[in-house]
Amino acid sequence: MHLLIVAGARPNFMKIAPLTWELERRSGIALTLVHTGQHYDRKMSELFFEQLGIPAPDVNLGVGSGSHAVQTAEVMRRIEPVLVERRPDVVIVVGDVNSTVACALTAVKLGIPVAHVEAGLRSFDRSMPEEINRLLTDAISEWLFVSEPSGVTNLHREGVPSTRIHFVGNVMIDTLLAMRDLAERSLVLDQLELASQEYAVVTLHRPSNVDDSAVFSGLMAALGEIAKLVPIVFPIHPRTRAAVEQIAALKSTNVRFIEPLGYLDFLKLVAHSKLVLTDSGGLQEETTILGIPCLTLRENTERPVTVDQGTNTLVGMNPVRIVEAGLRSLRRSPISTVPPQYWDGQAAARILDVLAGSATLVRRHDNEVSAPHTHPGSNGVRRASAEFTPT
Ligand code: UD1
Repeated sequence: MHLLIVAGARPNFMKIAPLTWELERRSGIALTLVHTGQHYDRKMSELFFEQLGIPAPDVNLGVGSGSHAVQTAEVMRRIEPVLVERRPDVVIVVGDVNSTVACALTAVKLGIPVAHVEAGLRSFDRSMPEEINRLLTDAISEWLFVSEPSGVTNLHREGVPSTRIHFVGNVMIDTLLAMRDLAERSLVLDQLELASQEYAVVTLHRPSNVDDSAVFSGLMAALGEIAKLVPIVFPIHPRTRAAVEQIAALKSTNVRFIEPLGYLDFLKLVAHSKLVLTDSGGLQEETTILGIPCLTLRENTERPVTVDQGTNTLVGMNPVRIVEAGLRSLRRSPISTVPPQYWDGQAAARILDVLAGSATLVRRHDNEVSAPHTHPGSNGVRRASAEFTPT
């Protein structure tokens, strides 16, 4: 069997890592790894490949930034010849970024079946680009690998047959559990002169929060109030940097802006924080496993299990509500929760079990529909080594 795995943006890298580790443990499955180049800064991309021991991509499409249409179209244009040439049995796409939908659409039109990892999540907010990407990718994928129970419910509601739905758990949590001990060795707290449990972490990058200066100023004012009680560390996503630079008053608050961190430093930073405020999807899930109170600065979430578990609270974008919730959360102790079902480090193994035993693939091989199954690229997976040097 020949799998082609696609990754494009930072949150994809944590999701493909455990699939590549699991593939290294198994024989008989060839891998082609494609990086679309949607994220290209070293701190948004290469650092994650290094720290997570993901093999170097066989192909980098180098698409870079652009409007949604340009970025999506460019990924489609550049992935098509790769798929034609390499003819994988399955294309695996993860998450909900533009690279996900672009590669899924190109593959199915070439007759190559698609597996979507993290299928079925729905915010029911179609103004979010990611919601459109999720809906479209799920509609054309053959295998829908779901991370939490709401995903199964959503797909059933949309009329997807049960045979396509596989509740396998959360690959991003596979990565967190595998990396947690190594992350503890990061020196990031010393470097930032922070004491465990005595600071809050903020990340913001959603267009709805950072591209509208009125909304962003309100959020920053709320953070400024919370920062009077607890220092706030804010690793800035490239998209957010421009917005921050436009608000001169920010320089006087107790919010500390830092460069984006690598996976291990960021995991340690979050694991030792008192509180997280974010609009990220992944961080809602990571804080659920780490037992850290998380305030989500959005009106909705596509990850309701994180709210059910008690770690995540949706507070929206209203500054008064954010400050109130922030002050309440600071009085909370770390939360001990039972992990959601199948958030146990085995999601990638379950995915590969399903694909390896799939009747669809067996049929393709029997009919010799697919082309040569030679492995075109390197498979020398570099596992994260014990010689981790904190950045
Ligand atoms: C993308 C995803 C979002 C995901 C986020 C994680 C889509 C629609 N959105 O949003 O779901 O949560 O990644 O980070 O796919 N830039 C750089 N260097 C980089 C990457 C981006 O400077 O390495 C800048 C560029 O100016 C670019 C902007 O950031 O225009 C936004 O990047 P883009 O990939 O378009 O979307 P994100 O906001 O990162």
